[in-house]
Amino acid sequence: MAVAVTSPRQPGGIAEIGDGQIIDVHTHFVPRGWPDLGAACGPGTWPSLRIDSERAAMIMVGEMEFRPIGAECWDAPTRFADMDADGVAVQVVSPTPVFFSYDRPPAQAARVCEIFNDLALELTDGSGGRLVPFCQVPLQDPDAACAELERALAAGHRGVEIGNHVGDRDLDDAGVVTFLQHAASLDVPVFVHPWDMAGGPRLDRWMAQWLTGMPAETHLSVLAMVLGGVFDRVPESLRICFAHGGGSFAFWLGRLENAWHRRGDVVRGSSTRPPSEYVGRFSVDSVVFAPPALRMLVETLGPEQVMVGSDYPYPLGERPVGAVVHQAGLPGEQQRQLLSGNARRYLTGQQ
Ligand code: CO
Repeated sequence: MAVAVTSPRQPGGIAEIGDGQIIDVHTHFVPRGWPDLGAACGPGTWPSLRIDSERAAMIMVGEMEFRPIGAECWDAPTRFADMDADGVAVQVVSPTPVFFSYDRPPAQAARVCEIFNDLALELTDGSGGRLVPFCQVPLQDPDAACAELERALAAGHRGVEIGNHVGDRDLDDAGVVTFLQHAASLDVPVFVHPWDMAGGPRLDRWMAQWLTGMPAETHLSVLAMVLGGVFDRVPESLRICFAHGGGSFAFWLGRLENAWHRRGDVVRGSSTRPPSEYVGRFSVDSVVFAPPALRMLVETLGPEQVMVGSDYPYPLGERPVGAVVHQAGLPGEQQRQLLSGNARRYLTGQQ
């Protein structure tokens, strides 16, 4: 079914947002097939796609079944139907982290990024600005990452999703900071997504890697930005958003603040100011499901720092998109900020 898209575009290449409509800054895509990465990039264990039917497939990693996916991942009309059902005008469409390839030689990872970034545009081109593509970059190599960011932007991408760490390197790694500075200089929004969580017998059951690992990973990333002095080294103009409500950071900001003052000898790191003074420097998405948790994010980080993200189309995502924002009992103006106003500023740099 073809969907006629008539939305006029606004600055930043995003579709016009109607009153009460939503910009969803946290969604993913997977293309319906891609070249053999072993042949295209080099030997090793790579992700591939097993097509099970017209609307179902399985992401494979080597011989292992990684994740079942559906047409929502690759089919624009399917996404539009779901968006229309939930009042979503615009989705930011980001890569699925299993394709980041940060553990590969940079040249191989750069090739993977090119392949998936170009495939993303096949999904988002022609959407009239309803599907806004964010690229992936070979973050293990800052020069290659900056080069692919520029190539992807020139091809039509509007932002970049990065994983929250590169092996043992956190977001305060010098190379990552160089990349963030470059993104700021290009006026490009950055979305930080947790990935590559710790495993082991205690975490490999009940989806514990997703339920406790992901929030902890994101918590650690914000911590690295603060205590690693990254917010002191990148321009204030950097627009950076953390997935899943910023993980557990906001809930434990008070503990961090106390530690910064009471055990500053080991806690302060490279930060020049107490952690609470950096909370205006980053945004988080809203996909925390519980209204009290969302209200705490708004109260702790500020009503300008929270915006709808759903994690569509994955099972731990929110449907209908934005439900928790609608249920939180926020003042009308704050609700409008969370539904679209903050995301518009995040994407375009403009009100
Ligand atoms: Co996600």
